[in-house]
Amino acid sequence: MESALDFHTAKALLDWQVELGATEAIGDVPVNRYEVPDKPAKPVQADTPSAPRNETKPDAVNEARALAQGAGDLDALRSAMAAFEHCELKRGARNLVFADGNSAARVMIIGEAPGRDEDREGRPFVGRAGQLLDKMLAAIDMSRSADPVERAVYITNVLPWRPPQNRDPKPEEIAMLLPFVARHVELIKPKVLVLMGNISCQAGLGKRGITRLRGNWDQAYGAPCLPMFHPAYLLRSPHAKREAWADLLALQARLRTDT
Ligand code: URA
Repeated sequence: MESALDFHTAKALLDWQVELGATEAIGDVPVNRYEVPDKPAKPVQADTPSAPRNETKPDAVNEARALAQGAGDLDALRSAMAAFEHCELKRGARNLVFADGNSAARVMIIGEAPGRDEDREGRPFVGRAGQLLDKMLAAIDMSRSADPVERAVYITNVLPWRPPQNRDPKPEEIAMLLPFVARHVELIKPKVLVLMGNISCQAGLGKRGITRLRGNWDQAYGAPCLPMFHPAYLLRSPHAKREAWADLLALQARLRTDT
């Protein structure tokens, strides 16, 4: 489309939209919402081709299971996820965010979903929350870049693609990606899992309520797990760092008894 705007005007308009909070372009052509005719409301019927996309699709879950189970190692799992076409989030994401850290680590951390920085870099927890996570780990002498397995962690998310505007993942998105998370855990065989925040607890434990769940050891994906506050929550609520510190010490103590 020929634009009537010169470069500087267009750039100023774009900057203004970014200032207002726009984080991504969702179409190449502008839509004049005043000219879009109102659509008559259609009754929603499940199990028909016109069912809304946010219904849980059993075939999507089955295909995810088959792909995940067929993955014999981490590279194969990453390729299987990249080949999975049922999740709409994939279309809006720049990168598949698979994992980071040492795959031989005893600790596997499962977060929620990539944000803007993670989507750009293709690595989990690299934005502000990730920087806080690195500091939290350093406080118990652990790190994603550590070589000795005693000090190493491995990090992934429930969702490998960024949800638009960082919205919460939908239950059907979690359901269709869960087989990949479960296989990921099977391949890493961690001694302990850390479930960061409500979405991760919802996926792994089928429960929410992180304030109640945190600090209490449980079982997820066949491994012992410790629910903790998400670092993004700690950035918003620094008073909760006290509990997070207690949980880090509990993690450290558990690893000491496990050696
Ligand atoms: N929050 C998450 O849960 N995961 C990331 O990778 C980044 C932020």
